[in-house]
Amino acid sequence: MTSAEYHWTAERVAKITSGRKYEIAPPEDAPFLRAIGLLSSNSAMPADAVRKYVQINHMLELLKPPLLDLRGRHKNLAILDAGCGSSYLTFLLAWYLKHKLPETPGQNFILVGIDTNQRLIEKSRSLAAKLDLEKHMHFEVASTADFKWDAMLQRRPTIAEFKRPQMVVGLHACDTATDEALGLGLANGADILAASPCCQAELAGKWRDLAQSEAGRNHALAPAFQAPELRRTIAAEMTDMMRVLLLRASGYETTATEFVESRHSPKNRLILAVKRGRYSQEAVESYLKLKAHLGGCAIRLEALLGDDARQRLFTEGSR
Ligand SMILES: C[S@@+](CC[C@H](N)C(=O)[O-])C[C@H]1O[C@@H](n2cnc3c(N)ncnc32)[C@H](O)[C@@H]1O
Repeated sequence: MTSAEYHWTAERVAKITSGRKYEIAPPEDAPFLRAIGLLSSNSAMPADAVRKYVQINHMLELLKPPLLDLRGRHKNLAILDAGCGSSYLTFLLAWYLKHKLPETPGQNFILVGIDTNQRLIEKSRSLAAKLDLEKHMHFEVASTADFKWDAMLQRRPTIAEFKRPQMVVGLHACDTATDEALGLGLANGADILAASPCCQAELAGKWRDLAQSEAGRNHALAPAFQAPELRRTIAAEMTDMMRVLLLRASGYETTATEFVESRHSPKNRLILAVKRGRYSQEAVESYLKLKAHLGGCAIRLEALLGDDARQRLFTEGSR
């Protein structure tokens, strides 16, 4: 028996998994969990780390079916993590693809993580080397606002076979960075978009300004426009509804679900969009109706739609 197997008794594993069967679990994945900072040197998992551990496993459960589908269809699979931060999800996906799926000769994959935080990007680069995932990972200091996949390939000819990301994820990317992550997916024709939004402030800011105007004071939602806490919470919920409609309008079958119980993370909504190519006129109309009811304020994602969806919005909106 190895020392890891000795340490990871069924009771110890059950304590962190609450008895559930997780894809990534000790003892076999202990080196990975330790490297990403979820296990301490004596193989204990502090309460905060347990929450993160549960979150990433639940996220993987939801992403697994589309991931397996993409893996089966693309020789060179590329996934972009926009606003990767400490790159928990990025490493999880790379580890899963390398160690949990059977290797298929000729197939390759890459995880690209971008973030504006240089220190975190450098840390992720060293971790990729430590986990022997360097060949499958690439990290860049870049903003979701102006990142261009093609420009990256020109700078990095060694990864030129990855023509576009087939999947774009954005986990708790701040405020409009979530819209920009989704926008990067649309701009690159990604098959799968997955975003867990965080700290939306854009719509609440527009409502705060609107509250100062005659129209805002007479609006049915004026009580919400004027109360900071209600304004922030309601605007965040409405922002996600608008995102779902804009993605549907762009030809993506889109759902918003809870990926983990709120006791593990209050930011637990996953917007998952799968490209189907059928533009939804109904979604265009719903979006415009909702926007009109919410004071006529657009969200960032609206400006990032592809030409087709934008044209539909403007045509319908001018009727
Ligand atoms: C709350 S952290 C989440 C990090 C990571 N995705 C996770 O879930 O652990 C948000 C990250 O988004 C990054 N970020 C915020 N705005 C960004 C932007 N416009 N472009 C790229 N990264 C951004 C921040 O630097 C930060 O690392």
